[in-house]
Amino acid sequence: MCGIVGFTGRENALPILIKGLYSLEYRGYDSAGIAAFTKEGLRVVKTRGRIANLEEKIREVGCDMECTCGIGHTRWATHGEPSDRNSHPHLGGKGKVAVVHNGIIENYKELRERLEAHGYEFKSETDTETVAHLVDYLHTGKQEDLAKTVLAAVQRLRGSYALGVVSMDNTQEIVAARRGNPLVIGIGEGENMIASDITAIISRTRKFIILDDNEVAIVRPDEVIVMNEFGDKVEKEVQTVNWDMSAAEKGGYQHFMLKEIMEQPKAVTDTVTPRIKNNAVCFEDNGLTDERLRDIENIHIIGCGSALHAGMVGKRVIEAMCRIRCSAEVASEFRYENPIIGKKDMCIVISQSGETADTLAAMRLAKQAGAFTIAIVNVVSSTIAREADGVLYTWAGPEIAVATTKAYSAQLAALYLISVKIARVRGLISIGDERALCAELQRLPECVTEALKCQPDMQRIATLYANRPSVFFLGRGLDYAAALEASLKLKEISYIHSEAYAAGELKHGTISLIEDGTLVVALATQPALFEKTVSNIREVVARGASVVLVTTDDFTGDESVCQHIIRLPKCLYEFSASLSIIPMQLFAYYVAVERNCDVDKPRNLAKSVTVE
Ligand code: AGP
Ligand code: GLU
Repeated sequence: MCGIVGFTGRENALPILIKGLYSLEYRGYDSAGIAAFTKEGLRVVKTRGRIANLEEKIREVGCDMECTCGIGHTRWATHGEPSDRNSHPHLGGKGKVAVVHNGIIENYKELRERLEAHGYEFKSETDTETVAHLVDYLHTGKQEDLAKTVLAAVQRLRGSYALGVVSMDNTQEIVAARRGNPLVIGIGEGENMIASDITAIISRTRKFIILDDNEVAIVRPDEVIVMNEFGDKVEKEVQTVNWDMSAAEKGGYQHFMLKEIMEQPKAVTDTVTPRIKNNAVCFEDNGLTDERLRDIENIHIIGCGSALHAGMVGKRVIEAMCRIRCSAEVASEFRYENPIIGKKDMCIVISQSGETADTLAAMRLAKQAGAFTIAIVNVVSSTIAREADGVLYTWAGPEIAVATTKAYSAQLAALYLISVKIARVRGLISIGDERALCAELQRLPECVTEALKCQPDMQRIATLYANRPSVFFLGRGLDYAAALEASLKLKEISYIHSEAYAAGELKHGTISLIEDGTLVVALATQPALFEKTVSNIREVVARGASVVLVTTDDFTGDESVCQHIIRLPKCLYEFSASLSIIPMQLFAYYVAVERNCDVDKPRNLAKSVTVE
């Protein structure tokens, strides 16, 4: 949710802020704004809509926005509709202080009432504006005091925040604060930045500091001072980004999503290769010791959206391979249903961003209950990665499209690795079996490459069905888990209603929705279940459905009932979800393109969901 960027240095900040905002736009894109110290004082320009609208508005305003220090924001509204008024930055008092915020201030109502009683006039419906007025109210105006004021202000806030604050009293300084929402500080030469995500600083510096919860930072061109909640200075480790700008650029593709779909063989290779040594799964990753994995009683896999769907595949693979009871649970449900968590349980937390609020809270709960937590995370040093007992990074590289593809595939690969490892340390598979499984895992990227060859077919099929009002995805077992992800992909980017059903379950009610011409996509990659799924296909065909069948090279069932058949290369059936999802991602992508949808930034969504 919401992207924050700030720059203080010697060059003109405006283009740097705009560029930063473009790279953060995937976090939220209903409105955008900047605050900058210009010759005319602290100026705010903000608007509903995209960054391009903001650029236009800056041109229209026509004021000289040249400055060397400023903050910017791209919003995903939680409090108040997307509108010019509700866009950030918000000004405090008589316009001395400007604030950008990511998160939710839970006690904003009572703060607002109290500030109104002190004569403050609110211009927006946001929770954020209370922070701006509160800082103004507490600010003494002494130059060195802004950080102390912010420290005092955040102690009065309940909820979560990443904040960027600037004040007229010191026009080269940004104060940053964080609790619950990510914020990094980019360290440059004679210039420094703040940002929600490394992508916004990478074009200027590869060095960064991660702000921790309850810390406040003073960011000036030549220094960065970080304080803890008591105001004591803390030493922070300066880290270096290990990927470059090209990873976050489109590289000739029309959309990030297509680029990321095509990058999947590499994402799987990079996740698997460093963890296989001498034909065995070998984790040098933090905390994943054999002893730990040997003693597990139950496994809870937790995530949201696609990460949860990866977990649903993982649940089936782990139960089949390791014979441990394993559940895949919706993080936002798990955290509030008083879950039964044993001290010998393991909790696998899956998150591309590593910042999803519900997933993080569910993980904290499991940790508190004494479970051992392993995070499968893509964003290095994200909150979930830092707080989990063990981390298995998915080395998928930066994922920019809001709809995940390569991170999902890397999550599956990470789950397979964990499964093989647990099965081996618990003696359920022999050294020979492990060797064979590792060979299959190493072959998986080739199979994904092969599966990607269905691209022209999927483009053609997508064109034929792009106008259908509703699509059903059917599958059993692993195919059902993959169908859930296939359906999510389609609905999130094409806005077509779709549902995923366990193939045998459809007839218990939902089959009433099947009529002449309804599109049904059936996934059947599990040889033991081929015939069963074909029977379910017949049931929908009898009611007029058009069927696309996604299956394997060795499918022996009756094809005649299907309009289209996509054959995938053969791989170990436990890993088949990694292949069956490929045509589904391409189908969703081309349907969305055909419908002129904004593929990389679908409406109402955001890449990193840092609110509940
Ligand atoms: C994926 O296409 C979705 N946009 C969404 O479901 C996503 O997977 C979910 O919000 C979880 O995000 P995370 O992996 O960053 O935790
Ligand atoms: N609560 C703030 C708003 O609605 C920020 C939202 C967010 O971080 O997603 O403007």
